[in-house]
Amino acid sequence: MQLSLFTEPIHPAIAPTNLTSSRHPVHRWANFIAGYSPEFVSLCIQEANLSPGDTVLDPFGGLGTTPVQSLLDSFSTISCEANPYFADLATAKCQAVLGTVNPDEVFSILHQLVPYEGELTDIYSVDALTFLKKIIPETELRVLVSAKIRESEITTNNKLFYRLVVSTILELTSKSQTDGIYKAPTTKKKSYSFCDALLRIEAQVIEDFYSLPKKQNLHCDFIKDSAHVLSSQPASIASLCITSPPYLNNFDYAEMSRMELYFWEYATSWREVTDKVRSVLIPNTTTIPTSIKKNHEFYAKQLSFDFLKYVNPLVDELKIRRTQRAGKKDYYSLVFPYFAEVKKIFAECFRLLKSNTDIHVIIGDAYLYGVHIPTGKLTLLLLQEIGFEKTQIKLLRTRGNRWILSKREGAGTPIGEYWIYGRRP
Ligand SMILES: C[S@@+](CC[C@H](N)C(=O)[O-])C[C@H]1O[C@@H](n2cnc3c(N)ncnc32)[C@H](O)[C@@H]1O
Repeated sequence: MQLSLFTEPIHPAIAPTNLTSSRHPVHRWANFIAGYSPEFVSLCIQEANLSPGDTVLDPFGGLGTTPVQSLLDSFSTISCEANPYFADLATAKCQAVLGTVNPDEVFSILHQLVPYEGELTDIYSVDALTFLKKIIPETELRVLVSAKIRESEITTNNKLFYRLVVSTILELTSKSQTDGIYKAPTTKKKSYSFCDALLRIEAQVIEDFYSLPKKQNLHCDFIKDSAHVLSSQPASIASLCITSPPYLNNFDYAEMSRMELYFWEYATSWREVTDKVRSVLIPNTTTIPTSIKKNHEFYAKQLSFDFLKYVNPLVDELKIRRTQRAGKKDYYSLVFPYFAEVKKIFAECFRLLKSNTDIHVIIGDAYLYGVHIPTGKLTLLLLQEIGFEKTQIKLLRTRGNRWILSKREGAGTPIGEYWIYGRRP
């Protein structure tokens, strides 16, 4: 039987996956370039025919599209996110939907701020300050630092919401934007003054917060940790899973939040960003730790004979191409760890899902040294091996964008981005 979502033409809001988030209440406060649309989440929820009290799962929560939209659609949620900054922001959005935050407390402090006049070196390490000064004008940085210091005055259960609002102002005042797969300083971005940024986010928050019906009697569990910790959750607690894992050669999810990791002192140096954040992410081309690369053969043991039949030739080809290239990147050592780790987390999703429930996954293919890694089809295979049934895969779009075309080899062939469905029997 075909899932009706798969027989219909692709909903326009889904095809370019995060195109509509900036128009949706709450989602728009902090929008994720690597996210999908709230419409996608709502479509999957409708199709699943959930009952009141059901819970939606997302092991790779990002900035919270799945949990926020699930709560807005009146379902409880459980999510994980390994980047602590993303996890805090997503939690704050969920708290806002549940009505447990107090915007008035936040904005009354932010409207009274005076620029910090002390030494910035008393607040930040040399690494952090050098980076922050490159992308935030010092006049704005001093007001933002004053906002950071005054976070201590905020009521405990309102702190993450305060952090979300200040982070949005930080983003708007900075001269930093996503370029390709990295977030980098730029002179092209129109940036706001602190005051204009404050007024902009305040208008959005007040409009959304006071117009949305508050969702009571719903439960939101947003875990600030790697999705591996789902292994400590009881079985059969979720009735639907909607998710998108990191792609094999996509964003460095730690590097792209470096400004915020430094600003809030989640990390004080690039070494700390690597140790505390990059090391817990699913390994991909931009974040794989050396220790995993060295032991990559070990991860092959966690993959099935059938799966390795497809993947071994790709790894062999990557080894050959490495010797022919100037950069000599160890892409071959990434493939087993990536799929083994993703498999582990999808196996946990299978265990957490009740019988007769759905999983929806958005995932894109990769090109490494001109070798096509069909991540979409391989993820489908992993889901089948784990036990998901009635699987279907649909091409959503091809991602042959200008940046990829100019910088990625093999990009003459566009990179597929897929929607995969499975049913937990
Ligand atoms: C494609 S994004 C998901 C975006 C999300 N669907 C949204 O709309 O905001 C993948 C996310 O997985 C996170 N991630 C990477 N490794 C993880 C892990 N081991 N456990 C949990 N989250 C992880 C990344 O930090 C990133 O935020």
